[in-house]
Parts: sequence; structure tokens; C-alpha cells
Amino acid sequence: MTRLCHLDDLPEGGARGFEVPGLACKVIVVRRGGRVHGWRDFCPHYRGGTPMAWKRDAYLNGAGDHIACHAHGAWFDIETGACVQGPCLGKRLIRVPLIVDEAGAVRLRPGEERR
Ligand code: FES
Repeated sequence: MTRLCHLDDLPEGGARGFEVPGLACKVIVVRRGGRVHGWRDFCPHYRGGTPMAWKRDAYLNGAGDHIACHAHGAWFDIETGACVQGPCLGKRLIRVPLIVDEAGAVRLRPGEERR
């Protein structure tokens, strides 16, 4: 299982992006409310998908309560991936299932590397 980081590397309320061999886009990991959520860094506004951060790991809006695409301002719910504001209402991010093991390592669920 591909290891992305350790929970200690991801503060509560924080987000980071990780390159994963075999995936065409980064995986965004957001830690919120004691849980971690994984999403493809692939905005659904355009068919081909667009990386969403304006600088490294800048995946959240100013309040830190939504994932933001900085290309045209879409906001996404951190837990569901649904677009709640912006030009792609009705669309959602693609979830990347994650596992946090007993040692605190955040990993892709087996098989996700090949999708
Ligand atoms: S590409 Fe993300 S909002 Fe336009």
C-alpha cells in the first residue's frame, strides 16, 4: 500500500498534496475533525481536470473549511467532495480511499495506485 505521509505530518485542519506513481494527478489529503479525506487534485470544472492549488499545498479556502480550486473559485465540501460554490455546481471531486494504519501512516487503499 502506498504510504503518503504520517498523521504527524498533517496538522488538524491542514491539507497536502502527494504525487503517486501511476496516477496522473496528485492526491489531496485533508485532515479535519480527526479524520482524513483523500481527493484527486482534479477539478471537475473542465473535462480534462485541472490542478487546484495556486501554490504548493494551498488546497483550502481562506477559512480552511472548503477545498478550493484557485483557477475559477470553485469550493468543495471536504467530506463529500461536492461543489458547493462556483462554476461546477452539481459536480464533485473524485474520492481517493485512504487507510490510516495503527502506526499513524496514511496510505492509499490497496488497488488505488492502478486507477
Ligand atoms: S478549473 Fe477549477 S473552477 Fe475552473
